[in-house]
Amino acid sequence: MSRLSRRAVLAGGAALAARPAFGVALPPVTTSSRIEALLGRMTVTEKAGQLTLMASAIGGRAATALNPPGTGPSAEAQLSAAREGQLTGIFNGEGSAWHRRLQQAAVQSRLGIPLIFAADVIHGFRTIFPVPLGEAASFDPDLARRTARAAAVEASAAGIDWTFAPMVDIARDARWGRAVEGSGEDVLLGRLFAATRVAGFQGRDLAAPDALAACAKHFAAYGAAEAGLDYNSVDVSERTLRQVYFPPFEAAFGAGAPTVMAAFNELSGIPATANHWLLTDVLRGEWNFRGLVVSDYTADEELIAHGYARDGRDAARLAFLAGVDMCMQSGLYRDHLPALVEAGAVPMARLDKAVRRVLVLKAAVGLLDDPFRRLAPGREKRFVGLPAHRALAREAAQRSIVLLKNEGGLLPLRPGQRIALIGPFAAGPHDLIGPWNVYGDDREAIDLATGLGAGVTVAPGSGVETVLPGGIPAAVAAARAADVAVLAIGESQVMSGEAQSRTEITVPAPQLELVRAVAATGKPMVIVLSTGRALALDDTVLAARAIVVGWFLGSESGNAMADVLRGRVAPSGRLPVSFPIESGQVPYHYDHKPTGRPASNGAPVAYKARYRTVPNAARFAFGHGLTYGDITYGPIILDPVLAWDGKIEVSAVITNRGHRAATEVAQLYVRPHSASVTQPVRRLIAFQRLDVPAGGTATAAFTIRRQDLAFVGVDKRAVTEPGAYDIWVAPSAEAGAPATLLLGAPA
Ligand code: NOJ
Repeated sequence: MSRLSRRAVLAGGAALAARPAFGVALPPVTTSSRIEALLGRMTVTEKAGQLTLMASAIGGRAATALNPPGTGPSAEAQLSAAREGQLTGIFNGEGSAWHRRLQQAAVQSRLGIPLIFAADVIHGFRTIFPVPLGEAASFDPDLARRTARAAAVEASAAGIDWTFAPMVDIARDARWGRAVEGSGEDVLLGRLFAATRVAGFQGRDLAAPDALAACAKHFAAYGAAEAGLDYNSVDVSERTLRQVYFPPFEAAFGAGAPTVMAAFNELSGIPATANHWLLTDVLRGEWNFRGLVVSDYTADEELIAHGYARDGRDAARLAFLAGVDMCMQSGLYRDHLPALVEAGAVPMARLDKAVRRVLVLKAAVGLLDDPFRRLAPGREKRFVGLPAHRALAREAAQRSIVLLKNEGGLLPLRPGQRIALIGPFAAGPHDLIGPWNVYGDDREAIDLATGLGAGVTVAPGSGVETVLPGGIPAAVAAARAADVAVLAIGESQVMSGEAQSRTEITVPAPQLELVRAVAATGKPMVIVLSTGRALALDDTVLAARAIVVGWFLGSESGNAMADVLRGRVAPSGRLPVSFPIESGQVPYHYDHKPTGRPASNGAPVAYKARYRTVPNAARFAFGHGLTYGDITYGPIILDPVLAWDGKIEVSAVITNRGHRAATEVAQLYVRPHSASVTQPVRRLIAFQRLDVPAGGTATAAFTIRRQDLAFVGVDKRAVTEPGAYDIWVAPSAEAGAPATLLLGAPA
């Protein structure tokens, strides 16, 4: 097709449709007039107070450890700030009793505006579900809705109104520690999990006592930090922002998220927290977002370190005028907005807009009607740690486990087999719930030794990053006396999460020593990996006959892993991130571009895009994961011509020749043969979880319409172009052979 005719299609192609308003529904007229009446009575100082969010003076156990330590106010100082209308709310506070005290203080303030209680409820409150990256491995977005719902029920019972979740940053660089908090490298997974998590947190009615308002974070492209270094600069094209990093935010807003957190990073020269184009032109102008923008922790003040603001006053002005409504933790708005308004540097109308957004949020979560909405005594005891939540934690953990290899059907373990359980993650109340928990406690979680139960000999063998004196001989002796060695190795939970970037995404050396020593016994080895990111597994690990990825599975870690290892439950998870061959390949993501000199994965050919030592491919591809069945895909069946306004069915028959039922995740990928903007080698456009009975078949069937083939075009708008496309129905991003589909031109 010629450039000319393609441009003609572009001109007629899909411009972004006019959008419905995103964010909170407008309050009813009565609430609106209450809000306007309040605004009319507020002093400028009180208005600045409504924009000032602070870390709780009491509690959150880990909360303070999870952010840079500050001097922090005393409880008394925080109570008086509430009484004086100098505080809009707190975050990561401990327990409803403390929240109640604060709320009582706030309702005694001159205007009696209630506080809002926020917290980082990322993947559970007291009952902890798998880390979000692990949960994404379920390829079951509805599971995330259910776990977010349970988290909301527990957190709201402790008085929390607002969660700083979901984290919807696409993470294509496994060095970046915060990959653990999101849904991985793929845009479709990112969008689907963003939307279901929002729906789960918020429930049917944001004002319900068991609802949490969601906050999509971190806007935007925080995951694109250069060299995977947390907080580092981001320089990505506007097209990539729109194609890759924005869609999960749009999905979160589409699902009703009323708030968004601006990111720490700079974005192509302008820090996100002071980025007017991002926070106002795109977010409000284009997307019609009507909710609230909150800064990240002291991110406005950090504009000074970025070299963007001169001082605190300048930082407050820049962040506020760019579009950050509420300031977290720095206190800069409280300290400088009144004077900035007075000096005419910040218009009163802008101040009123921000305060109005805060009040609308407070109204939406029911606080204006009842400041004690989520603070009824007794609720905390009743709803926190419910047995049904524990059961859900086990189910979610089971579904998050990914079986990478299983030579000779070593798994599931056979009844009566003597097991040596070896490694730093074999036993003990540590490294179970993951790095980002304010209210969870490893001591309330089940470790693998407990999950596996009787008949297991435990030998730690090694520290996580250090040698354990005498560890290896004891582990070798245990392996010798057993039929099978299960090695629980990998990363500890402090090795991923915020500020935990790694240069080598490998299993630490002392643990590899341990694996080598156990391998030398000749006993069959199962490796169970704890990790918060994709890992590059070296030959020592790959020599094991079976490898299972366990991420950090939460409260029911050991039980769920034992369910899979013992075969009570079949593994069904799939990798939401590519596991590269070597660390030096990162950022490696399956949806990379082909380059002008793509290399085939056969024998190396000179002057092609490959490394000296390894091809441009994953060791374990995005989407990969085995079952206890024996799965094969039949050829793709499709009607090869898709009319411009039509739809077609694409299917493949999946056969299970094994003796156990399996859950297969069939994935639909696409790539145009040519396009006006280069496209990835594959892009996931749909997937399906299918039950395939032992010795039986199931059909994966998808419908494709032209919109499914859309991408962000030359003019940075969504377009679809007629022409030929490769289509895969495959078990992973690097498996299967494509069929060709022809998209016809518009009539
Ligand atoms: C900093 C993190 O970037 C953000 O995700 C979190 O919500 C805040 N700290 C508050 O704890």
